Amino acid sequence: MTSPTRETDARKTDARQETPHPALESHVHRYVAGTSGGRTPLLALHGTGGDETDLLPLAGLVAPQAAILSPRGAVLENGMPRFFRRLAEGVFDEADLETRTHALADFVEAARAHYGLPAPIALGFSNGANIAAAMLLLRPESLSGAILIRPMVPFAEPPASSPLDQVPVLVLSGSMDPLIAEDQPARLAASLSARGAVVERRTVPAGHGLSQADVTLARAWYEREVAGA
Ligand code: MLT
Repeated sequence: MTSPTRETDARKTDARQETPHPALESHVHRYVAGTSGGRTPLLALHGTGGDETDLLPLAGLVAPQAAILSPRGAVLENGMPRFFRRLAEGVFDEADLETRTHALADFVEAARAHYGLPAPIALGFSNGANIAAAMLLLRPESLSGAILIRPMVPFAEPPASSPLDQVPVLVLSGSMDPLIAEDQPARLAASLSARGAVVERRTVPAGHGLSQADVTLARAWYEREVAGA
């Protein structure tokens, strides 16, 4: 659990801070300050129906002592927060995805300036993994890497190439995931590798939900590829 003293409810502006950039207000979010300097922060991106508190425990397990920035998706689908609209299960509104990806990247930029953070590692689950993948493709400068849990291919036609020079990415799929077609993780990994990302792809014995194996692999990957790099 995170200590309340480490958490900032960003809807309440700290009077000592300078006026935040308007992009910081675009996403309700939680910020948990890191307790050890030099740990690359995590950008926690929840799945459909989650919110800004959902992935805080997972983030704390994956990168203990790192700062955590955790926004809530700004779209509502039948009352469930998401990061972008979809037309049906697994069928994305790609124009909306593009707009929302830029808005999230602008938010991250404003949050980095406000909280004094380096580019974070995205820790995205499901819908959050999909917008993290879109950020890698459209706004690679906003992330220093990504852990994508149960991602899909975000765009049918990958957008114009932007380099992802040596950016580390972990793709975690579930062998019994009923929501994601088998070829999706490999196609996503290939399109990120083609831009220069260093992609590790692992399949865990799980469905679409999170499993202990995801936590173990994500934590080991963070220590090896991010903290130990
Ligand atoms: C999505 O819409 O991003 C994917 O279908 C995953 C989900 O959120 O269910």
